[in-house]
Parts: sequence; C-alpha cells; structure tokens
Amino acid sequence: MPVQLKLIAAACENLGIGKDGDLPWRLKKEMSYFSKMTSSTKEKHKKNIVIMGRRTWDCIPLKYKPLSNRINFVLSRSNPDLKQFTDTYAFSSLDKALEELECDRFSDKYEEVWVIGGSSIYREALESKNFYRLYLTKIFKDFDCDTFLPPIPDDLKEVSDPAVPSEIQEENGIQYTYKVYER
Ligand SMILES: NC(=O)c1ccc[n+]([C@@H]2O[C@H](COP(=O)([O-])OP(=O)(O)OC[C@H]3O[C@@H](n4cnc5c(N)ncnc54)[C@H](OP(=O)(O)O)[C@@H]3O)[C@@H](O)[C@H]2O)c1
Repeated sequence: MPVQLKLIAAACENLGIGKDGDLPWRLKKEMSYFSKMTSSTKEKHKKNIVIMGRRTWDCIPLKYKPLSNRINFVLSRSNPDLKQFTDTYAFSSLDKALEELECDRFSDKYEEVWVIGGSSIYREALESKNFYRLYLTKIFKDFDCDTFLPPIPDDLKEVSDPAVPSEIQEENGIQYTYKVYER
C-alpha cells in the first residue's frame, strides 16, 4: 500500500499561514485540534509521522521539540543536526522521506503520515501521487501574512470525517471552521 499523505493547515481568508516565522494568530483550541488529529492512532504501539519543512521545525519552541507522540521528519537540503532530538529525522527531499517509509526501518511503527507545512512542502505534497487528503482550518478573517498556502486545486472535493467537528468554531472573537478535501 503506497503511503497516503494527509495535509493539515490553518489558513486565513487570503490563504495566509504564517508571518515572521510564526503563526499570525493565537488559537489554542485550533492548536489542540492539530495535536489531536496528528497524534491519534488506532493502534497504541504505533505513532504517526509528521513531515515538515526546516523553517516550520525552527518555528517550534525548543520545549515542544520534537512534537510529542509523533515521529518528526524534517525536510532540509542543508543537513541539520537533529541528533539531540528523539524520534526526529532529516531528509533531503519528500521523495527520500517517502522511500524511507516504504522500507523496513519504519514498517509496523507508524500509522498515518501528516504533512504539516510550510508553503513549498504543502505545494509538493498537493501535487504528489501520494496525496490523500487536505485537512484545512478556514479562518474567517484576514491577517497580515508573509507565507501562504498554495491555491487549493480545483479537483479536490469536500468530504466528511467523523473525527472533524462540523460546527463553526469561535475563539478570541475569531470564527473558523474545519474542512476536509480529497482528490
Ligand atoms: N498555519 C499553518 O497551518 C502553518 C503550518 C506550518 C507552518 N506555518 C508557518 O509557515 C512559516 C514556515 O513555512 P515556510 O513555508 O516559510 O517554510 P517551510 O516550508 O517550513 O521550510 C522551508 C525549508 O524547508 C526545506 N525544504 C523545502 N522544500 C524542500 C524539499 N523539497 N526538500 C528538502 N528540503 C526542503 C528547506 O530547508 P533548508 O533551507 O534547510 O534547505 C527550506 O528552506 C512559519 O511562519 C510558520 O509559522 C503555518
């Protein structure tokens, strides 16, 4: 069975996802949703993989690194030193990361594979034959951003997932909703 990539992102109305190496908003419940979705496994002895770009890795405060209960894959062409972090691996391309998942080292150790950004990693994953679903939090507000989600391809269709709340969320006066798209 080929690896199925699930992308998870939160974007505001202009598809902005980041500003100055950070998130443009503080939405605690949305962050908990991200953690729950990317960490939950059916089989307790397995973990999910989270794949991210090096700058997204750099954005995570040291005390939260690596993202807990998940196997962290960091994409970088500059061979970052991640030895101090458990369950954390660097790969020089998305294809190399996917190849690794298809060989023995990780077999039987992981359940789902989540792509958690940023911009170019989302783009590559959306175009990949391994793309499966996009879990998108749509924030109904404009924020000043310098990093953006690529346009959502026209051939994606909205689907439902029982794990995803369907009602509109509100936090700090900001409304948002969880959507799921599949090709
Ligand atoms: N709202 C959200 O859901 C969300 C999610 C994630 C991130 N963000 C925000 O987005 C911003 C960070 O994202 P970003 O787009 O600037 O950076 P990014 O995609 O996280 O990281 C870019 C880096 O990843 C490496 N890279 C990219 N493509 C690669 C490939 N195909 N193969 C190997 N390495 C590759 C390169 O690292 P090297 O330079 O080391 O070679 C590149 O400089 C932050 O503001 C963050 O807060 C938001």
